[in-house]
Amino acid sequence: MVAPHVGIDAIATHVPKLFVDMPTDFAASRFLDMGCSSREQLASKITNGIGIRKMSMTDAHEDPVTMAAMAVRALIEKTGIDPQDIGFLAVGTESGVDQSKSAAAYVLGILENYFDRPMRNCMAPQYQFACAGAMYGLESALNLFRSGEFSKKYAVVVATDIARYELKSPGESTQGAGAVALLISGNPRLLAFESRTLGSCTRDERDFFRPNWRKTAVVDGKYSTQVYLDVVQAAYEQSIARLREKPENEGKTLSELVPHIVCHVPFPKMAEYMASRFLPDILRSDASMPCDLPVPPKNPTTEQIREHEKSVRAHPTFQRAFQRTMADSLHFAGEVGNIYSGSLFLALASFLEQANPADIEGKRVLLCSYGSGATALVNSAIVQSGYAEAHAKFSLEEHLRSETKGGRRRQITMNEYEYLHGLQDVAPESTATQTKFMTRKSLVAPHDEFALVGFGEQDNNHGLRLYKYIR
Ligand code: HMG
Repeated sequence: MVAPHVGIDAIATHVPKLFVDMPTDFAASRFLDMGCSSREQLASKITNGIGIRKMSMTDAHEDPVTMAAMAVRALIEKTGIDPQDIGFLAVGTESGVDQSKSAAAYVLGILENYFDRPMRNCMAPQYQFACAGAMYGLESALNLFRSGEFSKKYAVVVATDIARYELKSPGESTQGAGAVALLISGNPRLLAFESRTLGSCTRDERDFFRPNWRKTAVVDGKYSTQVYLDVVQAAYEQSIARLREKPENEGKTLSELVPHIVCHVPFPKMAEYMASRFLPDILRSDASMPCDLPVPPKNPTTEQIREHEKSVRAHPTFQRAFQRTMADSLHFAGEVGNIYSGSLFLALASFLEQANPADIEGKRVLLCSYGSGATALVNSAIVQSGYAEAHAKFSLEEHLRSETKGGRRRQITMNEYEYLHGLQDVAPESTATQTKFMTRKSLVAPHDEFALVGFGEQDNNHGLRLYKYIR
């Protein structure tokens, strides 16, 4: 497969140290609120029905900017690149910290101070479209290289988000926090993107949104899963149609065209829901393997479609295909939770770390983003040979290990979780004429990390976020 050379050269992930253990502490505290008769019943629903084991939480000194800066710091240090060779630093987020200033400007300032290297020629935009913001940033970065206008060696796109729902709401178990930074280059060691393969779909939807005055999203959970399926499927079909237009793909079956798929993962079960749309056609296209999946009903209602897709997911032929095409991408989502714009790229990092290199080198992977409100971008990339060696130093397995197993992550209690969940920038006792900032006390004092240390209190910097590297 001939691949044009622009794509992802390295991926670094930063997940906060703190987490809530879902089958024990969370299920014990919430089973009655969630309509379950026991902790065990809710634990089974969360771990088996939804797919989550740990929910990552930001400490009081962490926010989307510090997480993004931590991920980019890891990217720069582990690849050994010069920050001055970065000409485009884009942040994709829906947890924006300012109505006007780009979060990427804050990240750039933190990195300039830390590395003591000015980055004045670097562009630093913020991209927002719910969970698809970073994918829009990635497409822009690829096109900068393709246009021939870009004079620097690297672009960086960093997805960073804190997923928050109301306490005791159905979405609460799918919260999370983290950042994923992508190094984009004209000689990528991990994934090279194909050209003219982008598929897109956008619909003006109400499935999930967060007005400026709200800290948590307004979400219609069941409806959001349906919108996700329909919008991603439409973008996927356009991407497949464009792949089919390429002379080198003439005569190829769908199963040859699409060996691997990585999706936005708000929770691991969602990827299975999506797979029950994708995989039947892929399997039926392969004449060498008879497909014995259940046949869809004629003129089905929405409920019949749901039941049919459930019977497809339970079928051994589906499960084998799912293991082959998508399962490797889900390994870490259950250990972190939803990280909104970063979830797709956490899934990509998982795919690269978990798959057998012999199975994926030189093969196509379709990246399927989704952002509520609603949009999907689907694009195609080829896994580069030697990727596993290049990616080895960014191991997530180690980053996500908990303290009890000798790692860095610390389990917190439900009281501690609810304290952190309730933190805001501005204190409730603020008035229309006087803004007071909330006192934010960390559960674990920051160490060797970037921290939010306060807010400007003068007339000329009132509310400006103040960050520091804490040794
Ligand atoms: P729910 O309504 O509590 O769950 O919340 P459910 O009743 O749909 O059950 C989920 C699964 O658990 C089902 O499996 C149950 O059978 C099973 P299925 O039948 O579908 O295969 N189950 C059990 N399994 C084992 N043991 C048990 C048990 N009980 C039930 N005891 C919902 C689900 C997604 C609605 C909720 O989590 C929610 O509101 N989440 C937030 C919204 C969301 O994540 N939507 C996803 C699509 S939209 C998206 O991805 C965009 C987003 O990332 C934001 C952005 O773009 O910015 C969210």
